Amino acid sequence: MELERISLAIEPDLLRKFDLLLAESGVPNRSEAVRDLIRKRLVEEEEDPKAESAATLTLVYDHDTRELADRLVEIGHEHHASILSTLHVHLDHDLCLEVMALRGKRRDLRRLASRVLGLKGVLHGGLVVSSLDVLTEVAR
Ligand code: NI
Repeated sequence: MELERISLAIEPDLLRKFDLLLAESGVPNRSEAVRDLIRKRLVEEEEDPKAESAATLTLVYDHDTRELADRLVEIGHEHHASILSTLHVHLDHDLCLEVMALRGKRRDLRRLASRVLGLKGVLHGGLVVSSLDVLTEVAR
């Protein structure tokens, strides 16, 4: 693959921290690390709502909250086409961790995530989306 050479200006302190991070994570050089950062940004920030995407939705919730479990099941069935798999872990007496693997249009996955994360009793969570089209373009 043909590469273009660029130079960039960066504060010495920031660069030292970056080099330290690279040494710890085993990335071979700065160029590779900067290419990784650019790819990650492009894959995450695709804005086309129709972009075919894969995602994980993570949530931690209190299973004792009234009607929460029922609402989660209802939403799950309404969005069954987007949900590939769900992992459920009982963290302690009250708390549950759930991780859903999703696939579909970016807009649909975001809608599902905001419905789930907005439910009363959901204490924390987040959605990580990878645009598959962009991935294919920039990461192969
Ligand atoms: Ni549980």
